[in-house]
Amino acid sequence: MSKDKYTVCAALPYANGPLHLGHVAGVYLPSDIFTRFLRMNDHDVAFICGSDEHGAAITLRAKSEGTTPRAIVDKYNKIIGDAFKDFDISFDIFHRTSSKIHQETAQDFFKVLNEKAHFTKDTSEQYYDEEYDQFLADRYITGDCPNCKHANAYGDQCENCGSALSPTELINPKSTLSGKMPVMRTTSHWYLPMERHENWLKEWIKKGTLDGVPHHDASKWRNQVTGQCMSWIDNGLRPRAMTRDLDWGVKVPIEGGDGKVLYVWLDAPIGYISATKQWALDNNKDWKDYWTGDRKLIHFIGKDNIVFHAIIFPILLKAHEGLILPDNVPAYEFLNLEGDKFSTSRNWAVWLHEYIEAYPDKIDELKYVLTSIAPETKDSEFTWKEYQTRINSELANILGNFVNRALVLTQKYYDGSVPALGELTDSDKDVIAQMEAIPVNISKLVYDYKLREAQAEAMKLARLGNEYLAETEPWKMVKDPANTERVATIMNIALQITANLSIVLQPFLPATATKLSEFLDFQTSDWSQAGNSSLISEGHMTNKPSILFPKIEDEMVELEIEKLEATKTMETTFEPQKDETSFDEFTKMDIRLGTILEAEKVKKADKLLKLLVDTGLDKRTIISGIAKHYSPEELIGKQVTVLMNLPPRTIRGVESQGMILMAENENGELSFVASEKEFGAGSGIN
Ligand code: MF3
Ligand code: ZN
Repeated sequence: MSKDKYTVCAALPYANGPLHLGHVAGVYLPSDIFTRFLRMNDHDVAFICGSDEHGAAITLRAKSEGTTPRAIVDKYNKIIGDAFKDFDISFDIFHRTSSKIHQETAQDFFKVLNEKAHFTKDTSEQYYDEEYDQFLADRYITGDCPNCKHANAYGDQCENCGSALSPTELINPKSTLSGKMPVMRTTSHWYLPMERHENWLKEWIKKGTLDGVPHHDASKWRNQVTGQCMSWIDNGLRPRAMTRDLDWGVKVPIEGGDGKVLYVWLDAPIGYISATKQWALDNNKDWKDYWTGDRKLIHFIGKDNIVFHAIIFPILLKAHEGLILPDNVPAYEFLNLEGDKFSTSRNWAVWLHEYIEAYPDKIDELKYVLTSIAPETKDSEFTWKEYQTRINSELANILGNFVNRALVLTQKYYDGSVPALGELTDSDKDVIAQMEAIPVNISKLVYDYKLREAQAEAMKLARLGNEYLAETEPWKMVKDPANTERVATIMNIALQITANLSIVLQPFLPATATKLSEFLDFQTSDWSQAGNSSLISEGHMTNKPSILFPKIEDEMVELEIEKLEATKTMETTFEPQKDETSFDEFTKMDIRLGTILEAEKVKKADKLLKLLVDTGLDKRTIISGIAKHYSPEELIGKQVTVLMNLPPRTIRGVESQGMILMAENENGELSFVASEKEFGAGSGIN
């Protein structure tokens, strides 16, 4: 039987920020483990990724950093790409959707679908920002959520209650560009009438057959994936616009497309194909071999991408004709961090590139922990405490300890040479039987996308070895010369276990596996060798080992937690920055220096003082809420900053004609905002 061929795609990360551990645990690490395993099993496989460089995620980030989308994607493509390399994620290519080959591929795709009449053209009313002269993508509109009333919900989603929205549902919509209320304008777009595809989709997702022909094993799809897709379909599929009025993206390549770009979901997933094309060009291959015929297409993604990969992209692929559809879409739930959601905007994250920079020698440690807690079936959580516990009590105390004992004792008793295997006891036979069974179990789990359990199964082999040595205690037996043969047998078995570990750990902990190979002077990447209990023969020379996993000290955990806490304090102490204002708005405010001439308490108001302020222009009365902080006497003669042109307000029967500006620290203490030098009253501030 010939081996299945695979094209493994990892969701293209937006080039709008660095990667955090949530991304790694839920997409890149599992896809890497899966692919490494496939390669070891001699499957023909391509492992594809790249950065997703279009869409509102990018333009919004550019705006918030005060730069261009081009500068943003160049910056983050590099940060992300470097982090993947340093973390040793084994993509065959990490490409980008702003490349020429991608633009052409996506445009061709659009043309093919258009020629095959898979689109309809329609006009609709959409929000438009008159000041900026452009239509507003969903993400460019914020307003109050119609469901939970949360302010600043986005036009496509409320981050507070999670409900999916459309921009017209928002209460008090506001453009994030001008801050103004957008208006409705008519625009025309190409739509994909998804309802036409309902029947085959249902059958394909539920039964795994495509137009009656077996396609994939539907029982291997995760419940969340099948469930989310079916509920989407059961809610009724509708036409979905495939183009947008934007200038950052892949231009619509046909007549009438001026000023429009492809919808990001008709752009980004095609990035998998264009990246494959580039890789094929670079390596003398034919990209079509990876997207047609008898090959399994696998998408590793986060759960927020499910319908795009399991419904929309398959519709596009099938409509195009001749291309393969996904065999499976292993989607991951979310990873939380120390009791809270990862959040780029709030900086509540452990950034991959920062971890690598701080702990370049602890790559496999992080891989191990992230796979152990991977959010395969439900959300899970990363804590630095658990990071420490798992490394110290599992990697160091079990795997590290076993390997070290096996190799150090071999040095000590046999100068590094593998001793002979003698007669076997029942417990030896049992250990050997488990050594044979474990790789088979791992294999089954990996093919079922249960990588977390698969890694635990690989660790079982280390556990087995550790317990075997702890029970047989060769270091005690060796004292009696009558046991020479027995000790040799035990050590031989321990070394065979170590050699097996150098194989079965490869997909999960590649750097560790390499170290084991160096210690043993034995290397194979052929998975079919795993389970063999005589991988290294008598007399083979091994090397002195070094410590595999130094203990994680409390200080490191404390430092990392402090780092996180610092971002928390910052966010609870100070209000987040307000929405952008404009220079025009700013110059409308008349702010000047003034001198306090008189101050007295306001009756029946213990917080208020009535001030008479010389503003240079006039002497005016201002009511200020500072009575708890200053006595009237100490204010006389003080220089203060006055906001002059607020509409007058009557407070406790007294008209207040302006406002004194104060700074407030995290303890609620107040301080005047004044000038550094003694300037005269009336000096303008601008
Ligand atoms: N960049 C998007 C995200 O991170 C989409 C990734 S998947 C792709 O959610 F297929 F569109 F590339
Ligand atoms: Zn809401």
